[in-house]
Amino acid sequence: ETKYLSVDNLGENQRNCPQLMQAALWIKENEVVAFPTETVYGLGGNAQNDEAITKIFQAKGRPSDNPLIVHIAKYEQLEGLVSEVSPTARKLMDAFWPGPLTLIMPKGEHVAHQVTAGLSTVGVRMPDHPVALALIEEANLPIAAPSANRSGRPSPTTAQHVYHDLKGAIPAIVDGGATGVGVESTVVDCSGDVVAILRPGGVTKEQLEAVVDNVMMDPGLVDQKQAPKSPGMKYTHYAPDAPLRLVDGSFAFLQHLVDKDRAEGKKVGVLSTEETKDHYHADVVIPCGQRAQVATVAHHLYDALRAFNETDVDVIYSEVFPKAGVGLAIMNRLEKSAGGVILREE
Ligand code: TXA
Ligand code: MG
Repeated sequence: ETKYLSVDNLGENQRNCPQLMQAALWIKENEVVAFPTETVYGLGGNAQNDEAITKIFQAKGRPSDNPLIVHIAKYEQLEGLVSEVSPTARKLMDAFWPGPLTLIMPKGEHVAHQVTAGLSTVGVRMPDHPVALALIEEANLPIAAPSANRSGRPSPTTAQHVYHDLKGAIPAIVDGGATGVGVESTVVDCSGDVVAILRPGGVTKEQLEAVVDNVMMDPGLVDQKQAPKSPGMKYTHYAPDAPLRLVDGSFAFLQHLVDKDRAEGKKVGVLSTEETKDHYHADVVIPCGQRAQVATVAHHLYDALRAFNETDVDVIYSEVFPKAGVGLAIMNRLEKSAGGVILREE
């Protein structure tokens, strides 16, 4: 049975909280526990222990060639985890840690083999969440943690999302309420002269550019013919049960697509925003944040995608968003849900 361990997200005395002590003990005993970060919930295990890492892959049903991110609470934990910190990596840590930025660095000797899926590099981040930081400090170990969803599903932004996907497969979920950012961390490779974004996320390209000179997108993210450098980006991901179709056009164009499907007897859902929801007539319309504040769209995105699974829609049409700021991460996830296809108005 999977237990909820409730913690007060904002409590001052987290280190004395018995639920957190229990979770830390499980991590030390090479069990796996889900916990909140500022981005999404992670499924954590001892990054130095193969048995713990195997349990993570099994619980998620994750392909074994997809490496995990290691979470630390203090800089000393980089010791043995990475073999080298480049000047660019140091600059980025200073600017964005703790925060939603994962740095790919040459791996050190104390990393369980499966964490990196055989790669010579390891992804590391310091999360900006009091519960995550307290858990890592209490366990006194670097914690490897992928998002705590079943492989292929949208990442969990609440403890209930984790429960839905992993009940019975893990001993416990540390419940610290809904996460803040709502999409995962930005993954960057900073081993060379340029900083390459392997996965857009909570730290925006614009924010990175304010700190380092050369920031580029991994060509594999923009060109369908090239393999992405982040193994996770090649899988179908973030998908609700019903097929999702991205629509770039007017309200009338999207409505026309809805009407055609409904005329054929299909149940149709629309993923909109608070500002635009009243423009559509469909079986289900789920607004996802406010267009005028794109961070709110990121915050609600995975909950909205999951909400369609509680309905009986056969197909979902979604609006698109400008690829600026966190909009880049939102569109990356929506394009993955849609299998890369965008329906454009002539
Ligand atoms: O916000 C986040 O990053 C969340 C929270 C829990 O920290 N974690 C997360 O982990 O999203 P996961 O496993 O769902 O995604 C990790 C991504 C995958 O696309 C994986 O392929 C990539 O990071 N990755 C990990 N290590 C890598 C490496 N050494 N080289 C290239 N990509 C790597
Ligand atoms: Mg994931």
